Amino acid sequence: RPRVLSGIQPTSGSFHLGNYLGAVRQWVSLQDTHDAFYMVVDLHAITVPQDPAVLRENTRVSVAQLLGVGLDPDRCTLFVQSHVPEHAQLAWLMNCLTGFGEAARMTQFKDKSAKQGSDATTVGLFTYPILQVADILLYQAEQVPVGEDQRQHVELTRDLAERFNHRFGETFTVPQPYILKETAKIFDLQDPTVKMSKSASSPKGLVSLLDEAKVSAKKIKSAVTDTDTVIAYDEKEKPGVSNLLAIYSAISGRSVAELVEHFEGKMYGALKTELAEVFVEWVTPIQQRVNLYLDDPAELDRVLAKGAEKARAVAAPVLATAYDRIGFLPPV
Ligand code: TYM
Repeated sequence: RPRVLSGIQPTSGSFHLGNYLGAVRQWVSLQDTHDAFYMVVDLHAITVPQDPAVLRENTRVSVAQLLGVGLDPDRCTLFVQSHVPEHAQLAWLMNCLTGFGEAARMTQFKDKSAKQGSDATTVGLFTYPILQVADILLYQAEQVPVGEDQRQHVELTRDLAERFNHRFGETFTVPQPYILKETAKIFDLQDPTVKMSKSASSPKGLVSLLDEAKVSAKKIKSAVTDTDTVIAYDEKEKPGVSNLLAIYSAISGRSVAELVEHFEGKMYGALKTELAEVFVEWVTPIQQRVNLYLDDPAELDRVLAKGAEKARAVAAPVLATAYDRIGFLPPV
């Protein structure tokens, strides 16, 4: 079975629709065909300030959510990044192989740091993509299921894997991004030209999985569309309508073409109302399952202990090989 690895930040507790449709939904289906490793990346979260109690709680909520949407610890390895110390260790090696200018070209870093002053931007945020490189290479992942915004980080991973292999001998698998075209980028409901994101979206443009379903339904019903009336998929001319169709299609499993036919002759209001209903029906049982997991902290701990053990069993020998190749004296 080919190996996949991916991660998600615990930063805001609730995942949003972009996270789910762009990445996590694929994680669930890949469990059956791939040797899958998924983690909550708490090391990445502290690249911006975090309240310790809130971080701890959000990490638990993130794990419960991943279980609630269908990750099964018997079919995948689910763990918390900080439970596997090899991530930080391999990241150091990767830091020492990355050019300063190369890291400075990462667009997510440029965007995020541009919004803050340079003293508010941590060095951790700068090296964030390099920690992600280590995450992926530690597991010899062949594919990395993510949204479009992570493509550049997977490219960096490929470059660094090749660089290491070239300098020190064949060590790391060079991974491919696994990005589904239809849901690679889910857009803000209020501004369908920018991606849905916890940091940049307006509250009305962001649909959170754990918000009260009524609240999300209302956001969907007030989504921005355009002044035309025909329900059709056209990302350029009809970004708002196309976004709603993409979301509807992914949640319901019905193709966009089928939905366009279904809505022929109907107004935008019909699309929004129906999608709001479909969303509520879909999210309600998920929320119930998430709550069951949150009510059972002992079970969550058990899942994470097992996940960390399985992850370390893969990560430790890969790190040991990398240490050896780079010329570190073996410990005696
Ligand atoms: P994060 O936590 O920002 O997002 C988690 C996943 O959600 C995807 N995503 C989207 N997809 C489509 N449309 C959107 N609007 C949207 N917003 C977010 C992201 O592409 C991502 O796949 N750096 C990563 C976490 C990470 C990681 C890794 C991923 C750390 N180590 C190793 C893969 C492999 C991040 O911040 O994701």
